[in-house]
Amino acid sequence: MNNKFTKIVISGGLGHIGSYISQKLLKTQKKIHLVIIDPLYSQRYPSLFNLNNNSKNKVSFYDQDIRNMKVSSRIFSNTKVLIHLAAKTEAENSFSKKNEYLQNNLEGTRKAIEITKKTGALLIFPSSTSVYGSKIKNDLIFENDKEKLLPQSPYAEIKLKEENLIKKSLKNYNYVILRLGTVIGTSTGMRFHTAVNKFSYQASLNKKITIWKNAFLQIRPYATLKDIFNSMLIFINRHEKKTNEIYNLVTKNLSVKDIVTLIKAQKKVRLTFVNSKIMNEMTYKISNEKLRKTGFVPQKNLRNEIIKTLNLFNFHNEKN
Ligand SMILES: NC(=O)c1ccc[n+]([C@@H]2O[C@H](COP(=O)([O-])OP(=O)(O)OC[C@H]3O[C@@H](n4cnc5c(N)ncnc54)[C@H](O)[C@@H]3O)[C@@H](O)[C@H]2O)c1
Repeated sequence: MNNKFTKIVISGGLGHIGSYISQKLLKTQKKIHLVIIDPLYSQRYPSLFNLNNNSKNKVSFYDQDIRNMKVSSRIFSNTKVLIHLAAKTEAENSFSKKNEYLQNNLEGTRKAIEITKKTGALLIFPSSTSVYGSKIKNDLIFENDKEKLLPQSPYAEIKLKEENLIKKSLKNYNYVILRLGTVIGTSTGMRFHTAVNKFSYQASLNKKITIWKNAFLQIRPYATLKDIFNSMLIFINRHEKKTNEIYNLVTKNLSVKDIVTLIKAQKKVRLTFVNSKIMNEMTYKISNEKLRKTGFVPQKNLRNEIIKTLNLFNFHNEKN
């Protein structure tokens, strides 16, 4: 009975991305056994509610830190795909908590590598486009532009370390590294510290939108949850084939001004400019050409994602 199900393990599965991927997998796929691992470090219990409403699939949940789990545990036996999303994820916080980030993220990935080796699963690892940087205006960056690897935070430095560890350790196994742009889109475990979501929340409360000085015209890459799911599905569906590649996963490159304009079309907004620890002069675009060659078609309409986020809050607050 068990063998008829394809086992997909998702670590950090209750977070912003994980909650979306889990629900989508369960809604759209058949005969999968989804194993979610998450110690609820950020208390996202609602991501667990009503997960499996049909009998096409199986779901298990383990309230555990992946670093403390045994590779030989039956939980992992027969795993076909491991989506390793478990991480501390606030780039700005990583400046003051570098060791904590290193301990959690790098050691978590070390464990994910061990599980991959033991089970022969495909490892899907979300890296970040924040591993890149460039001082050239409007530079278009590709995966193999080594000189553009200029991480701007300890979080991004650690992502590069994790990537290198995966490449070195899993040469003879199967992995795919996806360098994700900043996430756009709604999910039950969503966070509100990233640009679009934070701005939408502030606009909904009639607060001033807080924009990092210098960042208004800077162009950065964004990825919608829908695109993240669709790309992961491409690799899940061909998990028996060896991939061992890095892909940029970007829906669109946008400036903060572009995002504010999209919000403005729906809501009145006021702006205020603030300092940030990540104050760099960089403006760059990330190419998604390599991923498009695998069949990935980026979502066209980001407006709808912004409307969905704004519609989560329908207050009528006065200015304060
Ligand atoms: N959100 C983005 O904009 C973005 C962009 C690029 C890359 N990523 C990467 O994608 C992944 C998921 O991001 P997210 O936005 O869903 O993050 P999130 O913070 O919303 O979720 C991360 C989840 O991981 C869990 N977790 C943390 N440490 C763990 C551990 N040791 N063992 C098991 N679970 C643990 C947390 O409890 C949390 O539920 C992360 O690796 C992140 O770095 C995110």
